[in-house]
Amino acid sequence: MANSIPKTFINELQDRVDIAAVIGSRVALKKGGKDLQGLCPFHDEKTPSFTVSPAKNMYYCFGCGAGGDAIKFLEEFEGLSFTEAVESLAASVGMEVPRAQSKSPARDLAPLFEAMRAAEGFYKAQLKTAPQAIDYLKGRGLTGQIAAEFKLGFAPDAWDGLLEALAGGVRPLPSKVLLEAGLIGRNERGREYDRFRGRIMFPVRDGRGRVIAFGGRLLGDGQGPKYLNSPETPLFHKSRELYGLFEARKFSRQLDSLIVVEGYLDVIALAQAGIRNVVATLGTATGEEHYRKLYRYADEVICCFDGDAAGRRAAWKALEGALGHLDGGRRLKFMFLPDGEDPDTSVRRQGADDFRRRIGKATPAIEYLFAELTQGLDLTALDDRARLADLAAPYVQRAPSGSSLRQMMRARLQELTGVGGADAGPVQALARPKPLAGEREGLAPHRGRRQGRRRDGLPVQLLSLLLKAPGLAAELAPADVDLLADGQDSPLFAEVIRYVAAHAGADAAQVLGRWSGQEGHAEMLRLHQRPSMLDADGLAVEFREGLERLRALAERGRRSQLLERMRADPADEKERLAEYMVLRRSAEAP
Ligand code: UTP
Ligand code: MN
Repeated sequence: MANSIPKTFINELQDRVDIAAVIGSRVALKKGGKDLQGLCPFHDEKTPSFTVSPAKNMYYCFGCGAGGDAIKFLEEFEGLSFTEAVESLAASVGMEVPRAQSKSPARDLAPLFEAMRAAEGFYKAQLKTAPQAIDYLKGRGLTGQIAAEFKLGFAPDAWDGLLEALAGGVRPLPSKVLLEAGLIGRNERGREYDRFRGRIMFPVRDGRGRVIAFGGRLLGDGQGPKYLNSPETPLFHKSRELYGLFEARKFSRQLDSLIVVEGYLDVIALAQAGIRNVVATLGTATGEEHYRKLYRYADEVICCFDGDAAGRRAAWKALEGALGHLDGGRRLKFMFLPDGEDPDTSVRRQGADDFRRRIGKATPAIEYLFAELTQGLDLTALDDRARLADLAAPYVQRAPSGSSLRQMMRARLQELTGVGGADAGPVQALARPKPLAGEREGLAPHRGRRQGRRRDGLPVQLLSLLLKAPGLAAELAPADVDLLADGQDSPLFAEVIRYVAAHAGADAAQVLGRWSGQEGHAEMLRLHQRPSMLDADGLAVEFREGLERLRALAERGRRSQLLERMRADPADEKERLAEYMVLRRSAEAP
């Protein structure tokens, strides 16, 4: 759309518009030399770092880095699109926006907006004369005042209520427009009918307060889905919009935080209880486009979910969508309500103070992230700490590079894995760690030099110990079992490892007997009978030491893979280095 307005016009508009007046009418500014200063409307601050320069025709905030020209200001401050901002500025200086000739000229959305406004008026009037709808709202604890503030309405239970009123009256709207606005539908036989019937209507507004969509809730449990929303239209893209944002900003331009809930009635119930900084997504997960919008108006976003499994899933999705946006002092928190409660029921039963306490106790995103990632891990075990490092790596990478979030994630990871990483030197210094004892035995099978006789690798040596004393398998963690099985010479040996690990009480006879007469049994027997001077305790010590060595070798393998990747992709080096340090340290930890 932007390119349908000629550049020359934009330049002329910029010259004509007084940026100090445009911003000054929305933000309190004081003269300071050539420029003007004030409290930044884009972030929370106590001393002014927001500067407007009429000479340079721009604004800039030294606190949060927001900046641009008058058009950008309106886009950011009022939530307008580029075209809308240009139109608004042009109107303020009496210029008309010309449209360049292009194959797809910018759409004139005015008729659609007009249809939505007319529908809003119709639904509102209907509510006044629908006692059952009023009773429903009263039954849900809403006052007439809050219903009026959110301009709730009612769609009568008829197929042509809206159609008659809007397409039939003295100034009829074309049904084509109603159709495109998603207010009516048309069946295969060409018959048109109201989309919303017998529903409480919630108007959804854009940044300027214009109605762009509706949500409709059945009274009680009638037919069809409980909530029906407008379809996607040229005015409405549900993945971008937030119900209640206009109302929240109308209440206060300076929002410290925004609470994201799931339902229309959650927003309204909280607003009625005096908690005004609340918005709802429209039947979708909180996604990237939502965050872009949310953080335009507040530095802190608190996502509120039900405490059930679905709520946890939604929270995790919300977290994934947000990570890339958490830069420059932006905060994200999660709050979970008890199972079976939503904000509406919670605030009505427990009251606003209780809800505010819950908000105050919301969990910061990082804490939530690590709480989820460490689920089921035993952080006293080296393996699980390494695993946490692996699991966390992609999330660390998703945080904006250089952001404090990323630093905090690293710090937290370090804390949890119990090892440092801050003193990581240049990669070159790490390039050739000194060989570990047992390394030459390697993880892969190979032939020994001695007398041409086959020399067993470490994993096979460990299998041999297990075949002598299967009870030692109790010492194996699940990750060890994988490691040990993967390191065996043959699929049969791998199978034996898994069998021994899964049958805690089995003795040597049971294990060997299971494969008796099968291929490879002779080799198993050889390993069982391998000469050893050790008694039971000695075998156990040898087994434990061997296992430690095997784990260390596996860690080394992973580290050299990381080094390989660091060399192959220098852009990624810093990330890999952090991972590498965690792995290296966890290998060295006692
Ligand atoms: P919920 O089913 O959690 O209901 O829907 P709620 O908000 O608690 O509704 P009440 O209290 O029973 O009235 C949460 C949101 O999910 C969307 C709507 O946006 C709703 O506000 N939704 C739900 C739908 O789009 N369609 C549905 O059928 C249900
Ligand atoms: Mn509810």
